[in-house]
Amino acid sequence: MTVHWDPAAREWHLANGRVSFAMRVLENGWLGHLHAGAPLGVGASLRHLGPAAFAGFTNRVGEPVALEVPVPGVGDFRVPALVVEGPDGSTVLDLRYAGHRVEPGKPELPGLPSTYAEDPAEAETLEIDLRDEPTGLLVTVRTTMFADRPVLARSLTLANGGGAALTVRCAMSAVLDLPDAGWRLVTLSGTWARERYVHDRALIPGRQSVGSLRGASGLEHNPFLALRREHATEDAGEAIGLSLVYSGNFLAEAEVDPFHTTRLRIGIHPEAFSWRLEPGATFTTPEAVLAFSAEGLGGLSEAFHALYRSRLARGPWRDRPRPVVLNNWEATYFDFDHDRLVAIAARAKALGVELFVLDDGWFGRRDNDDSSLGDWIVDRRKLPDGLEALVRDVRALGLRFGLWIEPEMVNPDSDLFRAHPDWAIGVPGRARTESRQQLVLDLSRPEVVDHLTEALVAVLSSAPIDYVKWDMNRNITEPWTPSLPPDRQGELFHRYILGVYELYRRLTARFPDTLFESCASGGGRFDPGLLAFAPQAWTSDDTDAVERLAIQWGTSLAYPLSSMAAHVAAVPNHQTGRITPLFTRAAVAMFGAFGYELDPTAMTDADLAEVARQVAWYLERRELLQYGRFLRLRSPFEGDGNETAWMVVDASGERAVVGHYRVLAHPQPVRNRLRLRGLDPDARYRVTTWADGFGAPVGSVERAGDELMAVGLGIEPPDPMPAGAVFDAIRFIRGDFAARLFELRRIQPRRRGAGA
Ligand code: DGJ
Repeated sequence: MTVHWDPAAREWHLANGRVSFAMRVLENGWLGHLHAGAPLGVGASLRHLGPAAFAGFTNRVGEPVALEVPVPGVGDFRVPALVVEGPDGSTVLDLRYAGHRVEPGKPELPGLPSTYAEDPAEAETLEIDLRDEPTGLLVTVRTTMFADRPVLARSLTLANGGGAALTVRCAMSAVLDLPDAGWRLVTLSGTWARERYVHDRALIPGRQSVGSLRGASGLEHNPFLALRREHATEDAGEAIGLSLVYSGNFLAEAEVDPFHTTRLRIGIHPEAFSWRLEPGATFTTPEAVLAFSAEGLGGLSEAFHALYRSRLARGPWRDRPRPVVLNNWEATYFDFDHDRLVAIAARAKALGVELFVLDDGWFGRRDNDDSSLGDWIVDRRKLPDGLEALVRDVRALGLRFGLWIEPEMVNPDSDLFRAHPDWAIGVPGRARTESRQQLVLDLSRPEVVDHLTEALVAVLSSAPIDYVKWDMNRNITEPWTPSLPPDRQGELFHRYILGVYELYRRLTARFPDTLFESCASGGGRFDPGLLAFAPQAWTSDDTDAVERLAIQWGTSLAYPLSSMAAHVAAVPNHQTGRITPLFTRAAVAMFGAFGYELDPTAMTDADLAEVARQVAWYLERRELLQYGRFLRLRSPFEGDGNETAWMVVDASGERAVVGHYRVLAHPQPVRNRLRLRGLDPDARYRVTTWADGFGAPVGSVERAGDELMAVGLGIEPPDPMPAGAVFDAIRFIRGDFAARLFELRRIQPRRRGAGA
């Protein structure tokens, strides 16, 4: 049992030994917050953590009051959770406790993706009802605690039990009131080709937020924020994370008040949002996930990784090893035909690749990005015998086949647009902003979702297609839909995303064995909402190995390696022009769902032989690399950013792979040891190193687990040293963009104190 209710104190304590969350009914019936974070013992009241008795806000000249569902206009002048306009236009609410229930397991949220419990014993859900008598609004505050994770899930359901329509202007998924502001705020921000860089700054009085008003979670900010204590590191100190299972407009915000208490909130962005709640209707917010760690940001990430990998992702591909793919995008762009693709696929097969992906350009008359989105009919000029023949020939090579689609879009130059110009989002009588010569289809309209379902079912059942890359390359402008009256246009953005989820739901149900990968100009919709349908996402269009260090590091704050598609590309890199060693490119991409994004028919024999060795090396360690514990060791966002290191280790500490990367070479390198994590301190390990290629290792040594974690692995001078070498700084400077991979295998457990 994780939910403890004290009827006399009217207090709840959700506790599982890893995290605690406590609330109580205040004197006026409102839902007060008492504690979130460090696990506390159950049994004793935590009431003293809030004010002795709630007597209104009196302009906050008194004890700060922590609330679960703050509303505006009643004396709490911080940001609200809920703004609901009554029939008189007022947004004042008086939400009083009206009952609660506790159920085993975790309910689905209508129309929305969410985390789940596979067995009811895995989680317990507390639903607390709050009622505003004058309007009849009933707010259900739903909190799920997972039995063995430091994680809670929160969503609200609003039900109009009154006789008049209400307008929801703001409905955040979660608000978290914390008693102090001694935290640093960590968010993931960037833009195209440099998504999810880590930004870390002190909290200061006032509001700091990230968000999106683009109709997608976006390249710019991720629906995630974390707080860490000033001295928290990757493996020590307190951290709290909030993540939103949603793919549309969002707001993630921290507000520090003059008393230095902190309010966090996350949910649908209230700007550009409103929702009409007719009598009898309900509205459910997306789910927010809260994680707590006493083991620093690393512990926080591990909690999110484990949950999102196994209780957000679903379907047969959740636990299956992800195939090594070769995608033709950077190999050919739009310029290909049947024979060229089959030649690329044949070469890929010889290298050990398992699945060939045909990217953009196979449909309509699409020779560039000017036309044809919406016309999901194969282009017979390029593929005269159709998709079927191509898939047949690729499969005959022993490869599986993947296909790119961008269902949510339409080019004005397309048959679909000519037939249904009103299906593209825009305001009649006003110019539509084009981006990449395309417009966004109005997926808030059921007939559009029905049309896309039919068109895509036809494509995906025309041949055995094992993988779908679902792209989305522009954001919504001129938001307006003919399907809603003027006073309900604020519903468009959310209804659009519900339409996207509905389309995903239909296609993943119809093709359960197909692996879906999401993509949005790279990582423009890398969010937990889509991971519920597509268990992996194209991390970034930036395939440069050095750039990827920062992108993959930042992404890993919230998302597991199995979700991060990462490919080796050709050099000079198409995004940066940088030339990095083939070894380094693979050593970075292997920490993810691995593949290639290049033309193997244009490679030298030596590079081809090396790629074959890379694939074989990866396949031998793929389950560890995709599903092991990912631990960050050295950050590209710290110091001069010249070094990055990370590792994966299996749950028992039996086997690990460590990656170390150095961007620029410096002469006379300073002495450098890399402390590892997650190993068995009592065991000895065989440490084998690869540095310039995946053939014979550079060398191999035996070391103790405790030493590797407490003292570290030798980077400069290198340990192991190549056979017969003596340390000589010059000899080990291997140029810029160097990488080293270490594999650790436990040889035998060693009893502590028993000697080597
Ligand atoms: C953007 C994606 O991120 C790329 O990988 C590629 O699929 C192109 N779109 C195709 O247009």
